[in-house]
Amino acid sequence: MDSRTTSRRRVLRQNRVLWLLDRLERGPRADRVIETVRKGVRALPLGPGRDLLHGRQLGHPVHPLLVQVPVGSWLSAAVLDLRSGRSRQTEAGLLVGVGLAAAVPAALAGAVDWAELHREQQRVGLVHALANTAAVGLYAASLACRLKGRAGAGRTYGYLGLTAVGLGGMLGGHLAYRQASGANHAEEVPHVVREGWHRVGTVDEFPAGRSVRRSVDDVPVLVVRESGGRFHALAERCSHLGGPLAGGTVEDGCVRCPWHGSVFRLSDGWNVRGPATAPQPSFETRVVDGHVEVRLRGQDRGRRAGENGHADGWRIEAEAGRAHGEGS
Ligand code: FES
Repeated sequence: MDSRTTSRRRVLRQNRVLWLLDRLERGPRADRVIETVRKGVRALPLGPGRDLLHGRQLGHPVHPLLVQVPVGSWLSAAVLDLRSGRSRQTEAGLLVGVGLAAAVPAALAGAVDWAELHREQQRVGLVHALANTAAVGLYAASLACRLKGRAGAGRTYGYLGLTAVGLGGMLGGHLAYRQASGANHAEEVPHVVREGWHRVGTVDEFPAGRSVRRSVDDVPVLVVRESGGRFHALAERCSHLGGPLAGGTVEDGCVRCPWHGSVFRLSDGWNVRGPATAPQPSFETRVVDGHVEVRLRGQDRGRRAGENGHADGWRIEAEAGRAHGEGS
């Protein structure tokens, strides 16, 4: 079967838009440009402001929050543009200007997030940024026309800008949800790891200062033994994009992800440095009869909160399913 037949079949299985997005994700044509821009964004002297733009303090990416202002302003301007009257046109022009001003921090936050993504995500992100840049250009033209009294042209540029920002938003949705660029990649850990203590090996399997990868209920766990003999354990897949923390650097009581450099405190998983916006699930540790055991932190709290509720029911179902699977 030749490749054209294969791709035609793929089109039949999914709609045309998804097929185009799939091609965009896989196409390496813009990779050189992406690499140049990525380096440029990473070199910006943002200091601690970079983590602020990622949304580390907020606990999730700040970019989707910031884009509400320009999109909301421009959409409101489009509604006002549908109505006649001089005062409405003035208000619409004001909203176009507010949207333009608010687009700057939104774009900056998006750019710093984009620079720390996988290449497939960056390819979609580049087109998302181009669509939004086109929208900004069109709205700037719209504002200029309005200021010169050319209301009709101002409205036309405005509607074109709204179309471009709509396309950008659609690509942003694909990037955030289908490609999971802003999701917490360690969120499922508390749902998968069973309650209680789990043995992960004997003490001598963990050389001091080295990270060792183990597994608990199919969840990879990073175990680190301090030189003083104290053990730490974290979920091993980085909350940013799932990078392997066992391949990272351990120093100063923290582990640094090898993919994009997020830093997590070993004692409690706190994300000391981004781009990760979510902390790493962490485990309590103990040594029993020469064996290291780990228990997910906060499970007791979760059980109490979930009593008679969905969380507990979900866990019981999951355990019943697991028991069934083990028995069959
Ligand atoms: S995967 Fe990006 S910092 Fe870990």
